[in-house]
Amino acid sequence: MSKLTTLPNSAPFAPEHIAALDQVIGAASVVQRAWLSGFLAGLDAAEGKGEVAIPAAAQADKPKLLILYATESGNSEALAGKTKQDAAKRGFAAKVLDMADATVDQLKNAGTILAIVSTWGDGEPPQRAAPFYRALMGENAPSLEGVKFAVLALGDSSYAQFCETGRLVDERFAALGGSRAADRIELDLDYEAGAKTWLNATLELLAPKDAGSVIHVDFQKPLASASSKTAPFEAEITAQHKLTSDRADSETVHVELALAGSGLKYEPGDALAIVPENDAETVADVLRAVGLDGDAALTDALTSRYDINTLTAKQMKDYAVITGDTGLAALADDAGKRTGFMAGRQMIDLLEQFPHRLEAEKFTALLRPLAPRYYSIASSQKLVGDEAHLTIARLAYESAGRARKGVASTMVTDHRKMGGSLNVFVRPNPHFHLPKDDAAPIVMIGAGTGVAPYRGFLQEREATGAKGESWLVFGHRHFLYDFLYQLEIQEWLASGVLSQLDLASSRDQPEKRYVQHVLWEQRDRLRGQIANGATLYLCGDAKHMAHDVDKTLMRILSEGKDEKEGQVELDALITAGRYKKDVY
Ligand SMILES: Cc1cc2nc3c(=O)[nH]c(=O)nc-3n(C[C@H](O)[C@H](O)[C@H](O)COP(=O)(O)OP(=O)(O)OC[C@H]3O[C@@H](n4cnc5c(N)ncnc54)[C@H](O)[C@@H]3O)c2cc1C
Ligand SMILES: Cc1cc2nc3c(=O)[nH]c(=O)nc-3n(C[C@H](O)[C@H](O)[C@H](O)COP(=O)(O)O)c2cc1C
Repeated sequence: MSKLTTLPNSAPFAPEHIAALDQVIGAASVVQRAWLSGFLAGLDAAEGKGEVAIPAAAQADKPKLLILYATESGNSEALAGKTKQDAAKRGFAAKVLDMADATVDQLKNAGTILAIVSTWGDGEPPQRAAPFYRALMGENAPSLEGVKFAVLALGDSSYAQFCETGRLVDERFAALGGSRAADRIELDLDYEAGAKTWLNATLELLAPKDAGSVIHVDFQKPLASASSKTAPFEAEITAQHKLTSDRADSETVHVELALAGSGLKYEPGDALAIVPENDAETVADVLRAVGLDGDAALTDALTSRYDINTLTAKQMKDYAVITGDTGLAALADDAGKRTGFMAGRQMIDLLEQFPHRLEAEKFTALLRPLAPRYYSIASSQKLVGDEAHLTIARLAYESAGRARKGVASTMVTDHRKMGGSLNVFVRPNPHFHLPKDDAAPIVMIGAGTGVAPYRGFLQEREATGAKGESWLVFGHRHFLYDFLYQLEIQEWLASGVLSQLDLASSRDQPEKRYVQHVLWEQRDRLRGQIANGATLYLCGDAKHMAHDVDKTLMRILSEGKDEKEGQVELDALITAGRYKKDVY
């Protein structure tokens, strides 16, 4: 048993303290020392001193835990940060790493990996994590023999490819030789409670036992992202007008909100979340379908708390169980038939086609929470002060023989007019901000409401007198009907705030013309801008535009070279933070 008096002179204790410590610790067993080490680390973490330098020898004794996350809107990142604190209390040397900043080689010696991964687009990884993800799936990915891992997948069960990226990461880690320490968990939009339980149990499972059994870990504190959701600001609508002509195929409105007194701050590129309410007609239809009309408390709850529109596979199965409907059970359990039924249908279709009277609690237990909707902020506080401007497209379509309306967008366009209010909070989007150097060129590519953040960028560059070139490549259907913010954009072009404007009016000529066609035509200029250090931005439609623009950029970057070079160069731009996407 070594005495503390053998410690080097550099030990940060006076001789009398070392003697006192000797009495207790000098005779301590290995287990008692490990306990103490974990206890002290836990104390530091609890007091917010998690970053205090711990002597190398003490760190080396701790098991390594790499908390690897992939995020788009910050949920995985917030969970990763919270998990790091709790892992430290459990005696881990825990490190948090964004997949966007990681290389696959960092996985080899990670010890244990706890991956927290969301899915975006249509079953795709978050955009900034895409280069890492491609490398992980590629043939040069390293062996993970000797590495333990566990995956928490975030998603939205209304998407066909629910938690796809988390699932594929989990399978890939195993295929590369890693050993799965805990079964993957797939969590829906209301992920908080499930994440807390799974992370707690997984850390418990992985923890060095002496330390883990001593420190009490809890996930009771609200996660960072939850507070703003639960306490939104009621912002008055101070202006609202249509940006599209009556002859346009769809309606888009400009909305101005007063933020005075809220303390809310944002940067151009950030989004504002609107906490929506379901419309009265849909609530009434749903209540009637389950035989609960007239229940005032339930009406309120369905209006503001529950998603009564989307229909998920789980909901179909659960509804079959609670109603004991065997016909529905047969449909819900047959994946092919179930998918066919769900296409274009919503909760109301299920309730009307399989009508049953339900108790209120049983019905609400079926439902998911009503999620906030995000809107790119179309203004700069340097120019508009305590206001936030939004550009909102009204969503209305027909499916399965019924007219449907988007919850949040039609709430704004049809019901909340000037003088009304919206409950909002800011969702920062630091990965879609302007370059720090305002002399750096920017290339803004977008279509439809994708122009919104660029209005914020141009307001900001106007307010700061930024010298960098600004090039806007903007797509819409018709120059005359839906060229959003036309007058302002032309004024910025005239004043030089905007250096170049290229429009793709897709339906003004027989051949469809989109932003990717403009980019291809202008490829020499684009390569020149990239060589001059330009940052590229892409905003708007994820399903069609984003893929086509990516493909075109790869063609442009690889022209005259091997085709694969295009992907490598595009990945290099993403990793350098010079190709930023905000697509939805
Ligand atoms: C970061 C970010 C920024 C955004 N910025 C903006 C912005 O600046 N402006 C803007 O208008 N929107 C923006 N959006 C989109 C916005 O958040 C909402 O998704 C959009 O307004 C629709 O919401 P809703 O509540 O009206 O519709 P919901 O009630 O949520 O309905 C949308 C759902 O309807 C279904 N659907 C839609 N069209 C069809 C169809 N033709 N056929 C069948 N089903 C269909 C799909 O399942 C879709 O998910 C942004 C999204 C993100 C993530
Ligand atoms: C535009 C958009 C596309 C999405 N696509 C999917 C999807 O294909 N599959 C899925 O399971 N979840 C999907 N989601 C849900 C996200 O994964 C979910 O909101 C998650 O909590 C986000 O975590 P993050 O903030 O860490 O990115 C999508 C969300 C948005 C807004």
